[in-house]
Amino acid sequence: MKSVLITGCHGLTGQKLVELFSGYSHNIYGIDLHQESIFQGMAGYQYHQFDLTNRSKLLDLIEELSPDVIINTAAMTQVDACEIEKERCWKINVDVVRYLVESARRFNMKLIHISSDYVFDGTAGPYNELDRPNPISYYGKSKLASENLIFGGGIDSAVLRTMVLFGHGRNLKPSFVSWIVTKLREGVTIKIVTDQIGNVTLVDDLADSIHKIVTMNISGLFHVAGREIISRYDFAVNIAEAYNLNKEYINPTITRLLGQVAPRPLQSGLIVDKAQRELMLNFCDVDEALRKYRKQEASFN
Ligand SMILES: NC(=O)c1ccc[n+]([C@@H]2O[C@H](COP(=O)([O-])OP(=O)(O)OC[C@H]3O[C@@H](n4cnc5c(N)ncnc54)[C@H](OP(=O)(O)O)[C@@H]3O)[C@@H](O)[C@H]2O)c1
Repeated sequence: MKSVLITGCHGLTGQKLVELFSGYSHNIYGIDLHQESIFQGMAGYQYHQFDLTNRSKLLDLIEELSPDVIINTAAMTQVDACEIEKERCWKINVDVVRYLVESARRFNMKLIHISSDYVFDGTAGPYNELDRPNPISYYGKSKLASENLIFGGGIDSAVLRTMVLFGHGRNLKPSFVSWIVTKLREGVTIKIVTDQIGNVTLVDDLADSIHKIVTMNISGLFHVAGREIISRYDFAVNIAEAYNLNKEYINPTITRLLGQVAPRPLQSGLIVDKAQRELMLNFCDVDEALRKYRKQEASFN
């Protein structure tokens, strides 16, 4: 039985991981910013509230808990905010990873980290693990810097790049899917881009991959995402259809007209063959992911 420390345990991926690992009776430690644990009373689970950017506190806690594996899901994930608040972005997305690498090296632990397709420029996707990153946004630069720290850190590690995550959880920030469903239910007209292409990922596929990496003790770089490549516009239409909502409210547009702060990789996407083969998993296509997502909804309402 391995003990795992999950940073960002109240986030989309963190919550799914706590749920998943608790089903396999691992000892689980969670860290997040919020006062109250959302998993209060869960057997084998211990919550620690603090800001990961506090290096000495983080290193002391890791030494005390002595987990076998650290899974880092905490990050500043709002791409436009990262472009504006660069210092905060770097602190969370890069400096915290530096501290985790330091801990993993000092206490001989495995570090599993999540990165993004934003490490690519989106001129020639879909990309495999050997393609050369060239981030065009500050968020993407921070995620690439975090990868480099890990792979240059002389530790046992795995990095999973993913994209367009969605799933259920408590008190989460809206995902692309939950935002579309809310807007269409309200009968609001929305503009969705036709020129951002890539995979969409049910968080279960990411969590299952991380679980396999822990149990099979696998290391390296993996692209983990839904197995289908689709435009954001087509995905929005699929969401409307899955929810029997009126897709006439979805209007096509292009990225240049949205005036977003951070540049987006357009022709992106992750080739997931290596992860599916080595982790022995079949990731969802769009229909399957939306079907599972709808089915899971009941337990969160
Ligand atoms: N979501 C996506 O579409 C996507 C796509 C590609 C890659 N990724 C990567 O996947 C990973 C997980 O993403 P996610 O969407 O599951 O993230 P998320 O839902 O934003 O969860 C991150 C959690 O970490 C917490 N956190 C942030 N800064 C912290 C700090 N300094 N100390 C302690 N806790 C802190 C957050 O709290 P607050 O919410 O209060 O800030 C949140 O609970 C990230 O590395 C992200 O870059 C995500």
